[in-house]
Amino acid sequence: MIIAIDGPAASGKGTLARRLAAKLGLAHLDTGRLYRAVGLAVLRAGGDPDDAVAALKAAESLDPAALEDHALASDRAGNAASKVAAIDAVRAALLAFQRTFAHHPPAPATGAVLDGRDIGTVVCPEAEVKLFVTASAEARAKRRHKELLERGEASIYARVLADIRERDRRDSTRAIAPLTPAADAILIDTTVLDADAALAAALEHISQPS
Ligand code: DC
Repeated sequence: MIIAIDGPAASGKGTLARRLAAKLGLAHLDTGRLYRAVGLAVLRAGGDPDDAVAALKAAESLDPAALEDHALASDRAGNAASKVAAIDAVRAALLAFQRTFAHHPPAPATGAVLDGRDIGTVVCPEAEVKLFVTASAEARAKRRHKELLERGEASIYARVLADIRERDRRDSTRAIAPLTPAADAILIDTTVLDADAALAAALEHISQPS
């Protein structure tokens, strides 16, 4: 079984993907980490994430160990990720890794949950289950701001909200694989649902697909 989960930044799709995978015994791939690792590699090499040549070089030489780097969670990595993700060649370079994971998940898993922006539309349009997890920009910014403060990082709500809006704009308006729900995706709005309710809604859909 392949479960595709897409949605904007801080929508709760990562939490839902992790919990679904644990509950159903499936492997989980947070595909945002691939783009974050590429963005961070470019920054660390002193490059510009908008530079297609530097970004492609980083994508082609991506070491899977880099996916475990704690620095991937930073907003710096997230913003760089959003820039390299708009480059066609970078997306193409990361496609095979994602499809191989979906169809040949690491044992003992018999299926996979992938979360990102284009899983249901581009990476795995054949997925049996497609979920689109979203929430208002304000609700997502509030959640993200709280997370940063809990981690002991400095955070200003207005700045977090502006960043989220900017990333939404970049992810949704790019020419290739823009953030958009697949026609057959089920919508889960976490503005009003907490993590438990979102999990329950997803499980209900999985047990009774329409
Ligand atoms: O989900 P995230 O915040 O970790 O994603 C970081 C960036 O990576 C996001 O701004 C857009 C990009 N991304 C993408 O374009 N396609 C994916 N499948 C996953 C992430």
